[in-house]
Amino acid sequence: MSEKKQKWTRLIEIIIGILATEAVVFAVLFYAIDEPTRLERAQGEILAVQLDEAMTLYAENCTVCHGLAGEGISSIPSLNNDGLRTMDYDELLKVINRGRYATAMPAWNKSDGGPLSDYQVEELVSLIQYGDWMETQDRVVNLGLAPLVPFSTEPDPVLYASLSGLENGAVLQQAVTIYAAQCVACHGADGLGTSLAPALNDSAVREIAPGELSRIINLGVSGTLMASWNSTLTETEIGAMVELITRWDEVALGSIPAPDVPIVTTEESLLLGASLFTSNCSQCHGPDGQGTRRAPALNVKGFLTETPDMAIQQIVTLGVSGTAMPAWGDRMSEANIQAIVGFIRQWEATAPEVATPATGGGGGPPWLRDANWVPPGQQAQLDAGMTQAELDAQKAAEAATGGHADGTTGGPPEGAGQGQGAAATGQDAQQHTQTGDTGTGPAWAQNIDHPQWWETIDVKIWSLTLGGTAIALLLVVIGYSALRRTPPDSETDFEEYE
Ligand code: HEC
Ligand code: HEC
Ligand code: HEC
Repeated sequence: MSEKKQKWTRLIEIIIGILATEAVVFAVLFYAIDEPTRLERAQGEILAVQLDEAMTLYAENCTVCHGLAGEGISSIPSLNNDGLRTMDYDELLKVINRGRYATAMPAWNKSDGGPLSDYQVEELVSLIQYGDWMETQDRVVNLGLAPLVPFSTEPDPVLYASLSGLENGAVLQQAVTIYAAQCVACHGADGLGTSLAPALNDSAVREIAPGELSRIINLGVSGTLMASWNSTLTETEIGAMVELITRWDEVALGSIPAPDVPIVTTEESLLLGASLFTSNCSQCHGPDGQGTRRAPALNVKGFLTETPDMAIQQIVTLGVSGTAMPAWGDRMSEANIQAIVGFIRQWEATAPEVATPATGGGGGPPWLRDANWVPPGQQAQLDAGMTQAELDAQKAAEAATGGHADGTTGGPPEGAGQGQGAAATGQDAQQHTQTGDTGTGPAWAQNIDHPQWWETIDVKIWSLTLGGTAIALLLVVIGYSALRRTPPDSETDFEEYE
């Protein structure tokens, strides 16, 4: 091999060496550059998990006062506002940890007597600052924890008037009015209790000493939904509440009806309701709810307009004793029953005046027979050329005006507030449809949901692969040229073998 040729080989070797080293350096650099985005993505994922848990915490603990989607109920403030989103983190943490002294806002941290851990409170702060309230609303509804809106009801006028015939009747009337405005949402119609709070109209409670009852109402029960009322009610009013609670057996049942609460639905809950209806109810009530020989029609105008959601829920939960209608409360969760009621309710728009009972053998319910089946309530509107999005927007608008009408039919001031609360939710729903379309939302959510194309290429792996390949090639080339540089006739080691 000539001198010149050897020089060339050397040069090529050097260049290849430099290139390979460069490849390795690039690989390391790329890895370092990628690190922050990787961290960001990981943080986004942690936040998403936190927010997911926080929505359930919110549903279980806060929705009863702060509303379905953080919109606030009557005088209780909203949580879905920019003021709180940009509020100092520690300040917000403190409010939730310790509550607000002398208001209905209880302390939530375990160290202050509440039910939540430090971490859970932090998750709630994340929800308030970064969360999606429409998603939270869906969570609350799907868990069957939608709060009673309106929060309040009105005493039955006839029974209310008859209270004046009792001893201290005026005091009882005052208490009944306060109870219907402030306590009924949790403690239920006629004080008989709900899933949120125990019955107060109960012989065991009547045995509690008046002083103790007064203390509970004044100070609340730390760590539960029972807030302190001493800043909301006067001493006389609290005295009246104690009188009512200890003498409730003298007050006629029906004096304080349940608030007329429309059950809120989501796409998911309607689908669930439809499938539960098919598997549990249609054999008696017919596949379209038009009735059979075994049970009356539910899908008829008269029944649906006269029976509020709460009443249907109660019928389904308790059954009709002495008839074939079972009590479903024993075998179905409240959330499932509400899903069915929501499903039954959306027949109202198209329900016939007179039902045509199914005679059986129709080949199954319509949603199983037809893949394009749309709930009847929506079919007419879809037929009229409306898009699903328009329909959703209209439903939101209807919910808004419906809530408003409820709130303004002569209800107490809280009632009017309710109407506005519901209207706000309706608008939120519409906004949500819009923002949903344009894909805005919290930055981390976009990062997770819609990565840019170059983000889907894993730079780290590619650099390592290329670097590794380069090194491997270099080794092959060096080895090959070393062999070539050693001619068999040269005076090297080879000779010793010959
Ligand atoms: C029993 C009703 C009730 C419940 C339940 C409740 N809150 Fe409150 N909350 C209130 C009231 C009333 C206020 C307003 C206090 C005041 O007047 O400053 C409030 C205020 C707040 C504030 C401050 C709002 C502001 O604008 O300053 C935050 C934050 C808050 N609540 C978060 C929560 C969270 C999170 C939960 C659930 C863990 C919760 N609340 C449960 C009644 C409640
Ligand atoms: C946000 C829901 C909520 C509201 C509103 C509410 N309470 Fe309560 N209340 C509760 C809960 C929950 C308990 C049970 C606390 C416990 O676990 O000890 C309770 C317990 C009580 C008790 C003690 C009952 C017992 O058996 O020891 C009394 C008395 C009471 N509430 C009165 C009232 C009065 C009067 C009002 C209206 C001014 C009211 N509550 C409003 C949720 C509520
Ligand atoms: C075994 C047959 C049977 C099944 C299954 C059944 N029901 Fe009924 N249901 C009845 C009968 C019978 C009545 C009428 C009771 C009466 O005479 O008041 C009734 C009444 C009702 C009513 C009141 C109707 C009215 O006009 O007052 C509702 C609401 C209702 N059922 C809902 C349901 C739901 C929801 C399911 C499924 C979870 C269901 N039912 C399953 C037999 C049944």
